[in-house]
Amino acid sequence: VSVAHTRSAAIIGGGVIGGGWAARFLLSGWNVTIVDPDPQVQQKVAEVLDNARRSLPLLADVAMPVEGSLHYMDSVAAAVVDADWIQESVPERLADKHKVYAIIQQHAKPDAIIGSSTSGYTPSQLREGATFPERIVVAHPFNPVYLLPLIELVAGDKADAEVVNAAQAILLSIGMRPLLVRAEIDAHIADRFLEAVWREALWLIKDGIATTAEIDDAIRFGFGLRWAQMGLFETCRIAGGEAGMAHFIAQFGPCLSSPWTKLMDVPELTGELVEQISRQSDQQSGQYSIRELERIRDDNLVGILRALKTQDWGAGRFLREHDERLGSRLEVGSPTDDYNKPLRLFSGHVLPAWIDYNGHMTEAQYLSLCSTLSDKLLDMIGAGLDYVAAGYSYYTAETHIMHRDEAKSGETLSGTTQVLALDNKRLHIFHVIRAGQGDGRVVATAEQMLLHVDVAAGKACDAPASVLSRARPIAEAHARLVRPAAVGRAVGQR
Ligand SMILES: NC(=O)c1ccc[n+]([C@@H]2O[C@H](COP(=O)([O-])OP(=O)(O)OC[C@H]3O[C@@H](n4cnc5c(N)ncnc54)[C@H](O)[C@@H]3O)[C@@H](O)[C@H]2O)c1
Repeated sequence: VSVAHTRSAAIIGGGVIGGGWAARFLLSGWNVTIVDPDPQVQQKVAEVLDNARRSLPLLADVAMPVEGSLHYMDSVAAAVVDADWIQESVPERLADKHKVYAIIQQHAKPDAIIGSSTSGYTPSQLREGATFPERIVVAHPFNPVYLLPLIELVAGDKADAEVVNAAQAILLSIGMRPLLVRAEIDAHIADRFLEAVWREALWLIKDGIATTAEIDDAIRFGFGLRWAQMGLFETCRIAGGEAGMAHFIAQFGPCLSSPWTKLMDVPELTGELVEQISRQSDQQSGQYSIRELERIRDDNLVGILRALKTQDWGAGRFLREHDERLGSRLEVGSPTDDYNKPLRLFSGHVLPAWIDYNGHMTEAQYLSLCSTLSDKLLDMIGAGLDYVAAGYSYYTAETHIMHRDEAKSGETLSGTTQVLALDNKRLHIFHVIRAGQGDGRVVATAEQMLLHVDVAAGKACDAPASVLSRARPIAEAHARLVRPAAVGRAVGQR
């Protein structure tokens, strides 16, 4: 399904969830309209957008789309006329949702999809009395909508395959991971867990067994970390060991009949219990404002998601795949046969994830760019990844980076590499990173000594003729170039 033409979203209800949807669409390049009778809506959405702008781009290793436009509308009718996706996020009252759908379906384009953020209602309930029932689906997100990828997509018993396919394609295009829920049930899948855990937590507090802080510690120092990366069953599988899931169930199954859980009973939410929970929560977290907590949460989520991305696992693998849908990782310039100047091996944008607390490209990223340049050069001389797989490689023995200027987010950078010297074992190179397409100010230079090694022996050894014969013409041509003044510099030299 092509989503190239679907670039306009209408957000009905701009609260916590609607604001998150607006941010998700805007930062994915969509134009957005919002309608909400609350006079504070612009302020509320602006705060969510602030949070989204400082966190979501940190997940990407490619340039994000240019942000779309945002317009506040006075009526649902005006908001939906041009929309390809309409996301209803009004409070959880069925009658209110029905009223909103009736107006939407009078004014929306016939092929517009209506997603509902409902936490509890089924598609059949939402569709009661609708003019075009099949165009309404549950698209249940998780707070913060701009960071968490999961969407429970429930199309119900009367699902229309075309609507489901189009909905999935659109959700994927804005970096969300649709989980197609097969059956229509109250509260879909994920909130059933949250409800079960919530009931247990209420009992633990009511019975005086644990405080809010102790319950949170029981989650965040232990199984919460396991769940974030493997979920429930894959974790249990490991616990079962080589004997597998059946063994795990045999081992822990009998516990199910012991009274570990109070799951089916709900403690009465008396004023006393509510007061007790609030007091404990104030003690636990009262030193932070909600805004501070949101930012701490977002920073932690970015850290966890980026770690999973490095591991190419779970939600991290999904983020990597989303990068691939958005574009190639780095636009690496193609090396020319012109050896009469330094080789231009890299050109790309400074990504938000490369920026530190000063707003400049972070130190480690310079070394990472140097590695990109060296890898490209090694590729050119026949010492790329295949060569490494065969047991030989060039290892970096020494690096000297000079920071000459600052690079800011979004700026174009390009990198060149000059071969200073080559012998059987050593490859001595000099990188220059400049702003712009190779013509701008010098941002950094780096001198590196690479050693040819036999990986298994862990020792330097002569490079083979196949590599040297490709490297030599470059080294000979580069020997005629001006030797950069910074070569051989020591730290602290004036
Ligand atoms: N809060 C969560 O964690 C969460 C998570 C997933 C899904 N949801 C679902 O999202 C929906 C919205 O929840 P929320 O937490 O954002 O609530 P909220 O109260 O923060 O926001 C609802 C907004 O809708 C506006 N509104 C009310 N009637 C409207 C109308 N007729 N037209 C336009 N706007 C209208 C309100 O002014 C308010 O700003 C609910 O269906 C809820 O079940 C909530």
